[in-house]
This record gives sequence, structure tokens and C-alpha cells, in this order.
Amino acid sequence: MATFLSRVSILLALCITLFTNPALSDYLNPLQDFCVADLQATPSNTGYPCKSQVTSEDFFYSGLSTPLNTSNPKGVAVNRANLMTFPGLNTMGISMYNVALAAGVANPPHSHAGVTEAGVVVEGSVLIGFLTNNYTLYSKVAGPGDMFVIPPGLIHYEMNVGKTEARLLTVVTSELPSEVLVPHTLFLAKPAIPDFVLMKIFKTDGTTINMLRSKLTN
Ligand SMILES: *[C@@H]1O[C@H](CO)[C@@H](O)[C@H](O)[C@H]1NC(C)=O
Ligand SMILES: *[C@@H]1O[C@H](CO)[C@@H](O)[C@H](O)[C@H]1NC(C)=O
Repeated sequence: MATFLSRVSILLALCITLFTNPALSDYLNPLQDFCVADLQATPSNTGYPCKSQVTSEDFFYSGLSTPLNTSNPKGVAVNRANLMTFPGLNTMGISMYNVALAAGVANPPHSHAGVTEAGVVVEGSVLIGFLTNNYTLYSKVAGPGDMFVIPPGLIHYEMNVGKTEARLLTVVTSELPSEVLVPHTLFLAKPAIPDFVLMKIFKTDGTTINMLRSKLTN
């Protein structure tokens, strides 16, 4: 009897530890079907706490179909369904984007650490390319209905090579915004990387470095 009781109390202690440990209860706990993020609450280092009152509405999001207007200086417009816009995605490891590119426009090279991207071209003609870690380029023009995949973490870009606006729907294996723009990186350092270093790296003069800095950081 004593052994039985002590086993029960060990089990109970284990359960209490598991279910009250925020690291386990808030993230990827298989005993929990979902954890809709409470974005009004203060996030901890394990993310946002779960919303206590959940309704069907929490698992639907209509913002992806908001009309996209590419008449802006970048020629790119994006609707984002990620943790910040669609809190039901919390802990799901997935987010979705509706991207429009004006004719001739390229989405600058970027990567997402450890994240796979897949997508489908909905309209237009898009040149999609990614670079491996040994700088081999894999690239092809994709049209409506064509699906593509970008291996995790690799640098990639999309360029509208058609005469009309192009649109893509993409999915990435993270619910967090995780895009790292590649050409901008060296110019975004705070404090700034000294011009004499950038001049050496790019084998160019200070005027060119200033021109690149103003173009790549605006
Ligand atoms: C798109 O944005 C431009 C610039 O802000 C604006 O002039 C234009 O009316 C917008 N087009 C639509 C369809 O909303
Ligand atoms: C570069 O990587 C690709 C795939 O990751 C591989 O197929 C190719 O052989 C590699 N090339 C060189 C030169 O190492």
C-alpha cells in the first residue's frame, strides 16, 4: 500500500511538473490540441500564452484575400497569415503568404533559417531560384499552377518575368516571420561596418559604398 501510494504521488508530482512547466505546456505538448496565442498578453521566452476562451473563429483567417496593390516603390505587396495576424497558427509550425509582384519586379534574395518554403504560382510568370550552400543555382520559370519548393535555409528569390502582375501563394514551416534579406545584411549592421571594410569586401570606392547603402537600405 505504501509503495502504491508513493508511486501515485511520484506520478502526481510528475504530472504537476509537466502541466505547470510553461516550456512544455505552451509549446508542442502532444497532450494539447492547440494553443491559440493570446497576443494581448506578454510573451515569455517560450512564446505567447494560450488564449483561455477559444471559438471556431480562432481557426479561420480571411486576410489572405485582401486585394494586393503593387503600385508602391518596391512593386511588391504581401498578405501575411502568420502568428502576428492569425494567432490560431501558434505552435503549428506553418504560415502562409499571398504575394503579388508587379511586372519586372524581383523579391530580393532572402532566407529563412531552418525553414522550408513551398508555393504555387497563381498568376503570371515567375523566375524562381535558390542557391545551395556551395553556390549552385537551381532556377526555373514557373507559371500558373506550378508548385515549387525551397530547401530549408537556402537563399532564394522570385522575379516576375512576365508582362502582367504575378501572384504566388507560399507556405513556410514556421508560424513566425523569419525572412532575412541577404544583400541588405552588411549594410544594416548597428553600429555600421566601417566603410573602409566594406570598400575592401566589395573591392570598390566610398562613393559606390554610399550609393549601395542608400539603395539597399531604403
Ligand atoms: C494602389 O495604390 C496606388 C498608390 O497608393 C493608388 O493610387 C491606387 O489607387 C491603388 N489602387 C487600388 C486599386 O486601390
Ligand atoms: C553542390 O551541391 C549540390 C547539392 O547540394 C551537389 O549536387 C553538387 O555536386 C555540389 N557541387 C560541388 C561542386 O560541390
